[in-house]
Amino acid sequence: MASGDSFSITTPIFYVNDAPHIGHAYTEVAADVLARWNRQSGRDTWSLTGTDEHGQKILRTAVANGVTPKEWADKLVAEAWVPLLQTIDIANDDFIRTTEQRHESVVQAFLQKLYDAGLIYDGEYEGYYCVGCEEYKQQSDLVDGTGEFAGQLVCPIHGRPVEVLKEKNYFFRMSQFQQRLLDLYEAQPDFIQPDSVRNEIVSFVRRGLDDLSISRQSFDWGVRVPWDDSHVVYVWFDALLNYISALGYDPEAADGLFERFWPSNHIVGKDIARFHAVIWPAMLMAAELPVPRRVFAHGWLLVGGEKMSKSKLTGIAPAQITDVFGSDAFRYYFLRAISFGQDGSFSWEDLSARYQAELANGFGNLASRVIAMTAKYCDGVVPESGPVTEAELAVQATVRDALRDASAAMERFAIHEAIAAVWRIVEHLNGYLTEQEPWKVAKDEAQADRLRTILSTALEGLRALAVLLSPVLPKAAQKLWTALGVEGALGALGEQSIPTAAQWGQLPAGTRTVALEPLFPRIEQEPVA
Ligand code: MSP
Repeated sequence: MASGDSFSITTPIFYVNDAPHIGHAYTEVAADVLARWNRQSGRDTWSLTGTDEHGQKILRTAVANGVTPKEWADKLVAEAWVPLLQTIDIANDDFIRTTEQRHESVVQAFLQKLYDAGLIYDGEYEGYYCVGCEEYKQQSDLVDGTGEFAGQLVCPIHGRPVEVLKEKNYFFRMSQFQQRLLDLYEAQPDFIQPDSVRNEIVSFVRRGLDDLSISRQSFDWGVRVPWDDSHVVYVWFDALLNYISALGYDPEAADGLFERFWPSNHIVGKDIARFHAVIWPAMLMAAELPVPRRVFAHGWLLVGGEKMSKSKLTGIAPAQITDVFGSDAFRYYFLRAISFGQDGSFSWEDLSARYQAELANGFGNLASRVIAMTAKYCDGVVPESGPVTEAELAVQATVRDALRDASAAMERFAIHEAIAAVWRIVEHLNGYLTEQEPWKVAKDEAQADRLRTILSTALEGLRALAVLLSPVLPKAAQKLWTALGVEGALGALGEQSIPTAAQWGQLPAGTRTVALEPLFPRIEQEPVA
């Protein structure tokens, strides 16, 4: 099992039936910020993302486009899903595809292990199925359709009619795990977060669990069931295993990455929390493996009050935003403006306003002014501080408190709270400069010592900000870091690690600063919505 000092985080693996929209990018960015924060805090960190390529949904899309499902998946992965990582600046450690051999062999070995343990049997299934969700539905899950689907039962997420399936399937004895799951939720209250999702899952499991159909016979785009090749594995059963196949899990010899990093933290959208907090831990219990460390369900990006989706034509491509505002602003905006765990609405106006007020005027301008004043009044060299006053001690206290509060918030995955805590440094430093008026102090030779103290304090504050903001704004933080003249890349461990960020005096007097281009330049072009 992983030691307490390692941190492993995953995104869901994404269906390759279509290209990503900003809802998918949101999940990616959140997991990436948590990974970068932990990595920079000195933990042995591993982050995983990837693509979910089997199942009926992908098969149908490929057929509709006149290609094989593998050709379709290869194209979408190469042209859309891998490039997304660069578009939004994701520093993942691995990218898993469910069509890779390293994954398929784990699925088969895992299934065989459960079969040998008597936890899989064959039976008949008749019920509703939503191909959009790739999920069997109960009648009580469905709602009445409207418009062209009036009079039919539709999936509440996709708004489309479900299909009725009748098949011979293999079943996993999931019902046997009801009590163990309830015990897990009780013993580990943060296993599912936030509480609203936790409560919903607990009551769902309390109502009783059915066994789960885990194979399909009517099509062949999937991993073959090892003892019966007329069946392929149900796409969710296959997909969930990516979290351990990517770690090289081997039922015969669990070692290496698996030992180092399992159990992981899973970041998922709330629509897929049940798969991760019910089916997945039951599968792991059946295989006698440790359950995940945590399942955190974030909310949806809404358009007109509904989940943004390509199928409803409300999807916005991430590059539409990053081409105009840059990847840092994308990352900042979604994680700052939406409480992580709640739904949120995207608007170009809100994005523009926050870019201007918070990034360009708040943080960017602060950094430019301090570096420019250092050039003008101190020949570009970090000055030696003179005696400090209450005002400087207050800045130091704000940095200390921000680090404490942001760290505590990141432990809970409350990313928006962590950013807000760090932003108090931006606000305090801006207020400090307004009050201290270094441009006036500079005019009085007799106050040269005071000027050095003010600039040295502001520069130290910027150093702490560069460290603490680097998980969210990696590009801007690195530019600032370079401008501060600090040696080494930001994000490397050692003195620049997050736990030591608040220790005052790490930017030695005499360090030569470098001119800084605006971190968040003025936007000339209006985005096309
Ligand atoms: N393939 C499954 C996951 C398997 S994980 C073992 C899947 N894929 S998905 O591509 O449909 O969705 C991936 C993630 O994107 C989900 O967490 C989903 O919640 C998220 N989002 C899709 N649309 C979204 C929004 N409009 N807003 C926020 N997140 C959204 O499900």
